[in-house]
Amino acid sequence: MSINLAFGITMQLKYLLALILMLSFFKVSAGTVEDQIKIRQSAYSLMGWNTTKIKSQIIDHPETYNKDQVIAATEVIFAIANSGLLDLYGAGTHQGTGWKSTRLKLDYFQKQEEVKEIDARLVKASIELKASANLGDLAVIKEQFGKLGAACKSCHDLIRIRD
Ligand code: HEC
Repeated sequence: MSINLAFGITMQLKYLLALILMLSFFKVSAGTVEDQIKIRQSAYSLMGWNTTKIKSQIIDHPETYNKDQVIAATEVIFAIANSGLLDLYGAGTHQGTGWKSTRLKLDYFQKQEEVKEIDARLVKASIELKASANLGDLAVIKEQFGKLGAACKSCHDLIRIRD
């Protein structure tokens, strides 16, 4: 083996090692299994609370519609949806306890492509919902809110254990 080739392989190994270290760092930065489940449950609960506020003001009691409050709620949903939630679905997180036992189905690990597509829909819907809230047209907000809800539901039907 020429010295050059050996040097080349050593360099490649170094890059590989650096990459592995970087990836393991990202894994660690998403936290332990319990931390990932805890943050996941918190994030979805907070989105749920904010969708309830929007639903109340635009569907159940439109007479209570408050533009600023609806904008604020859509901003929270937007921020959470765009925060990279799928990083909280590490190996082994279908078992364990965060604030309570996780409801993630083991199926998730076979359905990651479908979940990615749904998550992308959630992100898009959160952007459009926020824009519609800023416009303040109830009919448009309702339509976008429906799209957001559909993304939530398709993910729950696919990978969340029923109550
Ligand atoms: C990518 C898939 C996915 C999407 C999209 C999604 N969820 Fe969930 N949701 C889950 C999973 C998985 C859990 C169970 C988390 C756990 O227990 O580890 C969950 C749990 C929840 C919970 C219960 C949290 C708790 O622990 O009490 C609420 C509320 C919730 N989701 C609301 C929403 C809302 C509202 C949306 C849309 C704005 C949404 N979810 C979108 C997958 C998703």
